[in-house]
Amino acid sequence: MNRNFDEIIDRKNTNSIKYDFAKERGKPEGILPLWVADMDFKAPDPVLDDLLKAVSHGIFGYTEVKRDYFDAVYQWFLKHFEWETKKEWLVKAPGVVYALACAVRAFTKEGDAVLIQQPVYYPFTSVIEDNNRRLIINPLVYQDYNYRIDFEDMERKIIEEQVKLFILCSPHNPVGRVWTKEELVRLGNLCLKHQVLILSDEIHCDFTYPGHPHTVFSSINEDFADYSIICTAPSKTFNLAGLQVSNIFIKNPVLRRKFIDEIRKTGYSQLNTLGLIACQSAYANGEPWLNELKLYLQDNLSYVRQFLKDNLPQIRLVEPQGTYLIWLDFSALSFTEEKMEHMIVHKAGLWLDGGTMFGASGLGFQRINIACPRDILKDAMQKLLKAMKELEE
Ligand SMILES: Cc1ncc(COP(=O)(O)O)c(C=O)c1O
Repeated sequence: MNRNFDEIIDRKNTNSIKYDFAKERGKPEGILPLWVADMDFKAPDPVLDDLLKAVSHGIFGYTEVKRDYFDAVYQWFLKHFEWETKKEWLVKAPGVVYALACAVRAFTKEGDAVLIQQPVYYPFTSVIEDNNRRLIINPLVYQDYNYRIDFEDMERKIIEEQVKLFILCSPHNPVGRVWTKEELVRLGNLCLKHQVLILSDEIHCDFTYPGHPHTVFSSINEDFADYSIICTAPSKTFNLAGLQVSNIFIKNPVLRRKFIDEIRKTGYSQLNTLGLIACQSAYANGEPWLNELKLYLQDNLSYVRQFLKDNLPQIRLVEPQGTYLIWLDFSALSFTEEKMEHMIVHKAGLWLDGGTMFGASGLGFQRINIACPRDILKDAMQKLLKAMKELEE
């Protein structure tokens, strides 16, 4: 390995929301954070080199990108997902959540119904509710430590609530599902049948485990491509979240126009100079780093799986097919939310994301970010084990 992912880089006192805001966010100082979805690893070297070059130039005026930015993004999606995009489809935005909010406003009116599949990334709920749209939940079905879609419930709600927009999380955060092509086809057909627009958040597409290939929703067929918005970003893949760049692909020119108009209404135009440089550099040169990282994450996952099996069999790993966020099932303990919070935060000293943040169906679960050096993960598991033992005494 070229990159030493075992290296622990001190992130404290960098204004990191993961490390430096425990007190402000109601957690005790000194807590070990494995919550928000960024990684404790440096970005790939070629990205750092390009950023350093730009910083030493020293002028950070308004910036746009040229053809080579699109070429880097285009090649990435073609190579990894056999998805052929066109330059005019690409709309840049300062983040996927920002794009989701703009899309909700562009494609629905106040009071319209927007459907999501909880437990799901919590800003899906806020972009709907904050924009005064109606939140419609099609809960994922949990069975045999795995999640699946309840298509019957979905269709019933689409009809009854007259759903206008569906926000798909693909791969799914937090349950770790990488939807199969068959599932996506079924979802897509259902939405087309009832004229429900599909807003597909594919920010985690580069993190899939062997045997679970990601399918870009709009790569499936022309009809799906014409009736969907695909949200991508280099931020999860290359750990660039703070640089705020996302690439939103909209093939349909009418939809694209509406989306761009919505962004304009917010007064936003050019993206962050350094973000654009990092994005292009990462897609052009970051692949070797990502390949190594994915192997490291796979080993982190194996470590947690084995640790739980050997030491805490009452806590079940919901086997992820993708993402570096793992979903742990504590439901066998039958703890109340308060008792769980007490055990995780105050006894174990761990800052995780409690399951109900992702919707009521997340009760009894915790989400852990495993994109950290193994020693941090080992420390976290030991803390959990100790807290559980103390509880039994
Ligand atoms: C599904 C999903 N979408 C979007 C984001 C955040 O995207 P951004 O930082 O570009 O707004 C995350 C971050 O965890 C995520 O998990």
